[in-house]
Amino acid sequence: MSKKSFLAVERNLVLSAIDRRLFGSFIEHLGRAVYTGIFQEGHPSSDEDGFRKDVLELVRELDVPIVRYPGGNFVSNFFWEDSVGPLSERKPRLDLAWRTLETNRIGLDEFCRWAGKAGTDVMMAVNLGTRGISDACNLLEYCNVDASSRYASMRRRNGHADPYGIKLWCLGNEMDGPWQHGHKTAYEYGRLAAETAKAMKGLDPSIELVSCGSSNANMPTYPEWERITLSETYDLVDYISMHLYFGSERLDDMPSFLANSREMDDFIRTVTSACDYVKAVKRSPKTMNISFDEWNVWYHAKAHDDDKMANDPWTVAPPLLEDIYNFADALVVGTMLITLLKHADRVKVACLAQLVNVIAPIMTSKDGKAWRQTIFHPFRDASAFTSGGKVMYPISHGSRYSSKYFENVDTVESVAVLSGDEEIVTILAVNRDMEDTVELEVDLRSFGDKASVVFQSEMAGFSLDQVNGEDAEIVHPSQVRTAKVNGGKIVIPLKKTSWNVIRVQVG
Ligand code: AHR
Repeated sequence: MSKKSFLAVERNLVLSAIDRRLFGSFIEHLGRAVYTGIFQEGHPSSDEDGFRKDVLELVRELDVPIVRYPGGNFVSNFFWEDSVGPLSERKPRLDLAWRTLETNRIGLDEFCRWAGKAGTDVMMAVNLGTRGISDACNLLEYCNVDASSRYASMRRRNGHADPYGIKLWCLGNEMDGPWQHGHKTAYEYGRLAAETAKAMKGLDPSIELVSCGSSNANMPTYPEWERITLSETYDLVDYISMHLYFGSERLDDMPSFLANSREMDDFIRTVTSACDYVKAVKRSPKTMNISFDEWNVWYHAKAHDDDKMANDPWTVAPPLLEDIYNFADALVVGTMLITLLKHADRVKVACLAQLVNVIAPIMTSKDGKAWRQTIFHPFRDASAFTSGGKVMYPISHGSRYSSKYFENVDTVESVAVLSGDEEIVTILAVNRDMEDTVELEVDLRSFGDKASVVFQSEMAGFSLDQVNGEDAEIVHPSQVRTAKVNGGKIVIPLKKTSWNVIRVQVG
């Protein structure tokens, strides 16, 4: 008998509207993300500012509403003043995080210009590693204040009359990590973040702030870190951050690797609980939301990177973290996107880490083209087809499996999103089964019996180790018409190891 999964979509059971910023991304001054990534003077596709137009086109295709900048670990020794002003006066600085030389040719004014061209907002991080409250406030003044004060005047002198009005700010990065320059205990960070938040919001009450959460669920201080830091910051910040990368830990068992998003789901549930615990202790009416501002798969280039940083430091924009993603990675990214959507009631911001060349959906060749990695496609599909919609309460059951590292995994991971105009239900689904097609039956009867499929695509039929390259983007979705409508029910055969999009007209 064929394997089956069921998904019921109940018209009145809306989990949450999707915050557009759930499909954010990240550019760090790391490797070739900036230099020979978004920016390359003299490249045939560069524009008048030196930004690569081929990259800009792919970023627009990905439809990214917000990009976190300038790090990451880089921010913990970032001296933002070095990155602004006349180019001839900018001094290179050693980047302690990645052991490279930062030329400061591109700084925050240029990045804001690039973001405008890419049609995306900036999410700015302040250095709470080697610097502190006053530098964070100076940066905020430079970016957002319209007064005759020192740093606002500096911005105007640098040619930017109007403030940038950057809304979302990270209070440092991964401050729980011993690798971080200026690493702190939970209590030290909580106090510093609270005082920085107080000063920054005093300067510009319109901003939103993200307090650092744990760098991953295996940190020895997790989840005490969340409890202790939030006890200090709860009333002053708007989000707590989460970061998660899936490495090679479960690669020895592919059914487990494909089930990795289970860990993401548990992690979100625990952090949400920690937030709600502090809310209760404080008798606070406020609900703390989550900024999942780094997530991805990351393992392919690690050995090369460790060797490069240890043995050949202080070079400019060397290739680092250039993971070449395969089809299995794209399926994991698909399940991570579905997991984020299923928590859209609490996860309001998320950033695929990163955007170009560094663990990225978009790659560039220095002397050639920009191209799409395998993971580009599930991200683009989710961003393009569900933004502006409402996630429907997940009601599903069906085929399950147990693997070396997980028990009772849903063979099909799926989510349904109703469009803002309530005309279309989009279903995103990954079939994790490595042998068989699984039939997904979607019950849409609460919308009446007029449902009709208006679009269907699948990314299927590739070997799990298939990658894309500059000359051959082999892994990509194809449109298909295999879904069958029966009254208000749709039956979709989901091929083995596949990423699927089905859009159904219901209005
Ligand atoms: O995204 C790469 C790095 O991963 C970031 O700099 C850091 O925040 C995380 O550890």
